[in-house]
Amino acid sequence: MKYYSISFGFLLILVLPLILASAQNGKYERAAYHDSYEGAAQDDQDQGQGPATYDKNDDKESEPEQNDQNYEQDGDDNAPSLDTPTLLDNLASDDLLSFGYYSKSCPKAESIINKYVAKWVEEDRTLAASLLRLHFHDCAVHGCDASILLNHEGSERTAEASKSLRGFEVIDDIKAEMEKECPRTVSCADILTAASRDATVLLGGPYWDVPYGRKDGKVSVEKDAALVPMGRENITTLIEFYQSNGLNVIDLVVLSGAHTIGRATCGSLQFRLYNYAGTGRQDESLDSRYANFLKRKCRWASEYVDLDATTPQTFDNVYYKNLQAKMGLLLTDQSLYSDPRTSPIVDALADAPSEFFNHQFAVSMTRLGNILVPAAQDGGEIRTKCYSVNSNY
Ligand code: HEM
Ligand SMILES: *[C@@H]1O[C@H](CO)[C@@H](O)[C@H](O)[C@H]1NC(C)=O
Repeated sequence: MKYYSISFGFLLILVLPLILASAQNGKYERAAYHDSYEGAAQDDQDQGQGPATYDKNDDKESEPEQNDQNYEQDGDDNAPSLDTPTLLDNLASDDLLSFGYYSKSCPKAESIINKYVAKWVEEDRTLAASLLRLHFHDCAVHGCDASILLNHEGSERTAEASKSLRGFEVIDDIKAEMEKECPRTVSCADILTAASRDATVLLGGPYWDVPYGRKDGKVSVEKDAALVPMGRENITTLIEFYQSNGLNVIDLVVLSGAHTIGRATCGSLQFRLYNYAGTGRQDESLDSRYANFLKRKCRWASEYVDLDATTPQTFDNVYYKNLQAKMGLLLTDQSLYSDPRTSPIVDALADAPSEFFNHQFAVSMTRLGNILVPAAQDGGEIRTKCYSVNSNY
């Protein structure tokens, strides 16, 4: 109990500047469609259970926890804000992005995105997590400029590191409708950013306001996709990678919480199960029952396994409780709990009510979505098709 308050206090000190910055948020216009969200978020109550959920007590039926927090609209006082300073914000996003960006040129932009994301996710719920990941892979390379969506030869999308990315067809579908409604107006980068927010809400996660005005980049290089961490990196590498994008160690731990939903292919973790680091044994940081479950589940590298073994269908802080119980699926997940630079933050997020994680997730997602690289923005365009640059004629 004492540990709880120490680590929670520690996190509060770290995030206080963010919370304070969030308080002064009146300066941007709010999208009118903001209010129509409650309905969308609320039909997220019946959450189906995947076929093979990890079950600690083999004798007892494992039931996914219902998401008992009804979706709550964040009040204006604690909505995430652009005022949070980062290196790159100061360079670019503060000047380039705004909440009212499409209010005259394409007032229906957000509602179109929301409608199509809901339609696709209703057909295939697993797409929601995939959209969230796609947005991360976009912003983590060249900033949020939709470079991940280009599918020409040698683009990021064709890289080995991108092979399990999904959701491209959702963005293409939204873009086609958007071009009918307001041609050459709404960027693919903005569509992907809003879609990942909408997907999060549909999963039962938090809502945050997305500022708009990103341009679509014209450059996408296969080898750059390898910059995105793939799950075998050490914490130093992860922290440095985040820092290179203007994100800090709190963002690292909080955004990793996206792994509260979605799946990995066994190929991303099999190295932990057999002869880990040449030891001839499994990774010691892995709970042995959980490791046995994974060995049974992962006969093939292409097999899928839930990132959050306990509540795979629920957007909550149980991901962090899993790490405390040595049940992080990826090596990078579990390392967050073994490294002293990140473990206090894991404890704080695990021990506080889930709402605390949800709120911080919204803050860090805003920061992720605001990563802009000046070169990509200056030379950028509004694509008419998200998978290819506009032709110059
Ligand atoms: C700390 C750095 C990160 C690493 C090392 C990492 C690594 C991975 C890996 C290896 C997978 C499984 C890929 C596969 O086997 O197919 C995965 C899936 C996923 N990641 Fe991350 N990730 C990181 C950060 C993030 C962030 C910042 C987000 C979003 C905000 C995110 C969202 C997701 C989601 C939602 C999935 C599941 C995708 C699906 O079900 O299709 N990850 N991640
Ligand atoms: C982390 O990984 C990097 C890149 O593989 C390596 O150069 C570095 O020595 C590692 N650091 C630690 C502390 O293990």
